[in-house]
Amino acid sequence: MCGIVGYIGDKDAREVLVEGLKRLEYRGYDSAGVALLANNRIDVLKTPGKVTKLEEMVSGVQQAKIGIGHTRWATHGEPTTVNAHPHMDCTGNIAIIHNGIIENHSALKTKLTSLGHTFRSQTDTEALVHLIEEFYSRTNNLEMAVRFALKDVDGTFGLVVMAASEPDILVAARRGSPLVIGLGESENLIASDASALIRHTRNVIYLHDNEIAVITRNDVALKNLDDETIEREAEHLTFDLEQIEKGGFDHFMLKEINEQPETIRNAFRGRLIEETGISNMGGLHEVDDKITNAKRFVILACGTSWHAALVGKYILEQYAKIPVEVDYASEFRYRNPVLMEGDVVWAISQSGETLDTLAALREARKSGVPVYGIVNVVGSTIARETDAGVYIHAGPEIGVASTKAFTSQLAVLNLINLLVARKRKTISEEQGREIVAEMRKLPGKIQQILDNTGVIESIAEEFKDSRNFLYLGRGVNFPVALEGALKLKEISYIHAEGYPAAEMKHGPIALIDDNMPAVFIALGDSTYDKILSNIQEVRARKGNVIVIANEPDSRLKELARHIIQIPKTIDILSPILSVIPLQLLSYYIAVKRGCNVDQPRNLAKSVTVE
Ligand code: G6P
Repeated sequence: MCGIVGYIGDKDAREVLVEGLKRLEYRGYDSAGVALLANNRIDVLKTPGKVTKLEEMVSGVQQAKIGIGHTRWATHGEPTTVNAHPHMDCTGNIAIIHNGIIENHSALKTKLTSLGHTFRSQTDTEALVHLIEEFYSRTNNLEMAVRFALKDVDGTFGLVVMAASEPDILVAARRGSPLVIGLGESENLIASDASALIRHTRNVIYLHDNEIAVITRNDVALKNLDDETIEREAEHLTFDLEQIEKGGFDHFMLKEINEQPETIRNAFRGRLIEETGISNMGGLHEVDDKITNAKRFVILACGTSWHAALVGKYILEQYAKIPVEVDYASEFRYRNPVLMEGDVVWAISQSGETLDTLAALREARKSGVPVYGIVNVVGSTIARETDAGVYIHAGPEIGVASTKAFTSQLAVLNLINLLVARKRKTISEEQGREIVAEMRKLPGKIQQILDNTGVIESIAEEFKDSRNFLYLGRGVNFPVALEGALKLKEISYIHAEGYPAAEMKHGPIALIDDNMPAVFIALGDSTYDKILSNIQEVRARKGNVIVIANEPDSRLKELARHIIQIPKTIDILSPILSVIPLQLLSYYIAVKRGCNVDQPRNLAKSVTVE
């Protein structure tokens, strides 16, 4: 995710900013920049790539005692120099760094362009700096200009602004994106997380939503957007750097699992239209017709992304009534696949760099069919080589075992399904509205699961020494069973297999004895009764049954050794909830076995070899 650092004080701001940005590198980024204010002039330096590159550039400019710096993880616009932060207003007076998304940036841009402002980048952030410039021209006061501007903004922000004409203050504001102020001796700092400032101070004030901070060398004043003063005591940070980077969690994987309410919100942000029950994805606008009129979708992916693709097949065939073929990217390439006119190929990849997926999409392109991407990393090779696509906006995923990217891929596949199904009229407007309403409820439901992990931890304790696990599900939750088994294999090195529940009797049932835990996904859908029979088959052979369920009835309670209850949603969205206990179960088992959760043996986050 993007990182923010701002400084005002006696030290050389160039050094403080670069060092702070280095501390934020762990969050992932694709470009970096600083703005330095001295002698009533702001120098802006930016570059795609690493902070070390920026460091070389910075040594060549004037020293400054005030400045702002940013690492950008691209969302709107490629990771180029011009799209990197800080962004400047037209006159070169005001500089801004911003985390978050300005949802109404297009409308603001139209309005500001008509008022004579010139835009240089493709970012949503630039609208913000021109808006502040507009108010500054009327007020001549940076704090007021920021306050007025923010009243016109929809979306999320953590931002810091400075102006050459007011060289003694930084103005910061927050809604949805964290900011923490560091209080020093004759200096103050601000950053998106405390790791960037604890080298200088451990006394901090956290900014809350809808608050503005005016930061000078010796003072910090907090206000709300209505200009009312807010008093807040400083806190003293006692935890170490590594803990801060992991957001207080023991591992990146656990942090990322816990981010899912937010990442799902981000995947849907600005893309759901309540009134007409349809979705809207900027990256697909120009190819809308091709998608709607496609005769077949072919989805290519590897690993966890392949499981997401399988869920997509169930969803799209059921609702959009479009035939979907899902292929391992590595297999697709070498089996002389038949692609025809009317086919649309999709590549799903978290990293956007997986070589097998990349090679497969290049192979597909040779047939002349359109190839679209569902990717997390903006500007990655797959994102660049596809004709169009949708970013999942899950933010950087550092744990090697994919968690939040998987649920965001499912969220985006659901958005695509909604678009296609509504356009093909295979679902009504009313049904579309119901789906949108259920999508909106997902973050809250994910949070409910995350707030109740006690039972999962105790199951992990009981089964941590098992040698084998079976995961079983039906329908749209069959691929979730595969994903649950993969997660366990990846990080705990326990052998695990996923199967469609009914397929168990055709082989895997031979493995079942009182040592074998079997994890069932048995939600209250049309397959519930059938799954109960499958559970009975396992129980009859003394297998230990763990069940992910919505509202367990007495039959289930009698059969299951453990039940993990999750909130109910509609079937096509249920994998976004049912996979979360499975992620947590793997996590806790791996931790209890003493495994390296974030960097499991033999695995790589991004596999760029065949
Ligand atoms: C590697 C990772 C997996 C991931 C797969 C596909 O094997 O360890 O977690 O699912 O690559 O990666 P992608 O970035 O293309 O989704």
